Amino acid sequence: ARPPTMSPRRGCCACCWLLLLSLGVQRAPGYPSAAPEQVHLSYPGEPGSMTVTWTTWVPAPSEVQFGLQPSGPLPLRARGSARPFVDGGILRRTLYMHRVTLRGLLPGVQYVYRCGSAQGWSRRFRFRALKNGVHWSPRLAVFGDLGADNPKAFPRLRRDTQQGLFDAVLHVGDFAYNMDQDNARVGDRFMRLIEPVAASLPYMTCPGNHEERYNFSNYKARFSMPGDNEGLWYSWDLGPAHIISFSTEVYFFLHYGRHLVQRQFRWLESDLQKANRNRAARPWIITMGHRPMYCSNADLDDCRWHESKVRKGLHGRLYGLEDLFYRYGVDLQIWAHEHSYERLWPIYNYQVFNGSLKFPYTNPRGPVHIITGSAVSPGTGLSPGPWSALRVKEYGYTRLHILNGTHVHIQQVSDDQDGKIVDDVWVVRPLVGRRMYH
Ligand SMILES: *[C@@H]1O[C@H](CO)[C@@H](O)[C@H](O)[C@H]1NC(C)=O
Ligand SMILES: *[C@@H]1O[C@H](CO)[C@@H](O)[C@H](O)[C@H]1NC(C)=O
Ligand SMILES: *[C@@H]1O[C@H](CO)[C@@H](O)[C@H](O)[C@H]1NC(C)=O
Repeated sequence: ARPPTMSPRRGCCACCWLLLLSLGVQRAPGYPSAAPEQVHLSYPGEPGSMTVTWTTWVPAPSEVQFGLQPSGPLPLRARGSARPFVDGGILRRTLYMHRVTLRGLLPGVQYVYRCGSAQGWSRRFRFRALKNGVHWSPRLAVFGDLGADNPKAFPRLRRDTQQGLFDAVLHVGDFAYNMDQDNARVGDRFMRLIEPVAASLPYMTCPGNHEERYNFSNYKARFSMPGDNEGLWYSWDLGPAHIISFSTEVYFFLHYGRHLVQRQFRWLESDLQKANRNRAARPWIITMGHRPMYCSNADLDDCRWHESKVRKGLHGRLYGLEDLFYRYGVDLQIWAHEHSYERLWPIYNYQVFNGSLKFPYTNPRGPVHIITGSAVSPGTGLSPGPWSALRVKEYGYTRLHILNGTHVHIQQVSDDQDGKIVDDVWVVRPLVGRRMYH
């Protein structure tokens, strides 16, 4: 965005501006503005904190004003910083990405905030600080593959969010289709679209294949995930669960650096070791990555191959994740990429490891996989493998309720069927003996 050019007719332009302003239009498209937009939250992983991220079109200070009262003054202040992000498109558009972390928040308490500076403030948003400790029951909205166009399941998600159904969102890769498109304007449009949800709930992400352009730069610049890996891989604790987010894309876009496969793998292993030392307190280990190891969809994706790179690694033997996750007793693996919902029986190496025939998910003897990429148009299916428990080819999203250390509830909401629950299962694992499968 460039400054408005001076023209002989600027007197008239000024009139137009006054008129527009008096009509409540704050900004014409393309006019550089310090007014915050694309406001969203993320959890930086430290109890009692929340990060607010937003965009402006000119440099401006980064401040958040917040408080407990829905109206009236906002007595608390936090400051952060802004960094220019230059998109890789031909226009080299510059976005100023602001980040402010709020600290010392009271667990479970609702806050009101606005962000910006004297040069322009956002409207007020509300969020609830995450609770601390392990003895509470987080509720998550989970999905991948959500576009800026035709976001069918989104209005429902928005309503459900406003009704207070969730504590956080997991967006399992693929944003906007694509954030870099049209000189990153599609990314802007997408971030504005999700604002009603993402400015009220920590919106936690992992990269998908559609974020690949310019070395995932739109993904890295727009989101603010915990850790120091630009959101490519990180983990965080939420109630009785340890949640690991990682990039399946390091296995496919090797020209950005083969070393990333190894670096991430080593990080995953050490993170799993740490999580297992803490397993008695936080029994659930949940992973999220974009491309699944198994799927029943009719395409030529990685999951259609017996030697899936995500599952078996590069060349079918280097840094495969199925063995790693099995070895450390990971409970639940969440994927997307395939445009449908699919639940697998507990599985390892193409073999089903039901807890029992009657209760397959009670004391399962292998990890449970869920693929939830149906926020975008549903795909077509092949005949499902013997490890596939259910497929749903409807728009929707997944609800994950981590009730306590032993019980997790998974539900699939169909948007096509007006919010009907089309899948409903409990995964039950004992408190002890979770560090590995036998
Ligand atoms: C791509 O990004 C990663 C991490 O953000 C970095 O380590 C790598 O060197 C980058 N690759 C290229 C080719 O710029
Ligand atoms: C796993 O459990 C389901 C549900 O009872 C059953 O249909 C399936 O055949 C079982 N698979 C194996 C290998 O036991
Ligand atoms: C978790 O909740 C279930 C269902 O209410 C209950 O049966 C189970 O004992 C609880 N587990 C723990 C560790 O409290």
